[in-house]
Amino acid sequence: MRIYKAKDYNDLSRKAANIISAQIIMKPNAVLGLATGSSPIGTYKQLIEWYKKGDLDFYEAKSINLDEYKGLGPDDAQSYYHFMHVNFFDHINIKPENTNIPNGLEEDAETECARYNSVIESSGGIDLQLLGIGCNGHIGFNEPGSAFDKETHCVTLSENTIGANARFFASRDDVPRYAYSMGIKSIMQARRILLIATGANKADALYDSICGPITPSVPASILQLHNNVTIIADEDALAKILAEHDIMPGGHLIDRRDGTDK
Ligand code: F6R
Repeated sequence: MRIYKAKDYNDLSRKAANIISAQIIMKPNAVLGLATGSSPIGTYKQLIEWYKKGDLDFYEAKSINLDEYKGLGPDDAQSYYHFMHVNFFDHINIKPENTNIPNGLEEDAETECARYNSVIESSGGIDLQLLGIGCNGHIGFNEPGSAFDKETHCVTLSENTIGANARFFASRDDVPRYAYSMGIKSIMQARRILLIATGANKADALYDSICGPITPSVPASILQLHNNVTIIADEDALAKILAEHDIMPGGHLIDRRDGTDK
């Protein structure tokens, strides 16, 4: 695991976009696992800017999004389909048929989860998975308590997540209660993972994920077992970790209390 401190949100977005561009440059037909939420908006903006300058080409790239609210379709302004188009896909040259998001309008969860798992499998696997992190340590919509061995599944959102996402809806009651999400197993199968975190409300989740025990109560803690994870976070999100650790050049954490390497 390599951890890098960003000066601010712009710096974080630029660093994350640099890693994604390097992936596309090295493998133009890379499969990108993508996330929604506030954290990646700046990263997508930066990638769009570089694409418009002619420095990046998404023509051969493929994308597979982490999740979608069950019950929301492409025309719903709160759907992740809509989010991805407005914030990214509509501004770059990725082919629409190469983008994948769970179908929120499929009522039969078994059908949709099986379809999405076969999309991931037939893509040849995700080269680089971009992740945000929930204040409760969730990744995708894998809430605390989710089994680590799940592929795409239908999730009942926790009250914590409903509260955190209510800011995007007219009221808390409008937030869907269910979502389709790639499971932890699908996420862990990505060849490389890039997690971004910003703001003081992520400090506990980030600390528990990186420094705490590996447990389903903190879904992101499983990332400690992945062999290629990069975390980019701002000072606020890193506050609790930096109170005990130094980040060494190369992104390794050293515990100041006993000198151990994380
Ligand atoms: C989004 C997703 C979620 C978010 C997480 C953080 O596709 O899967 O896990 O990454 O809820 O959201 P923000 O970035 O809004 O704090």
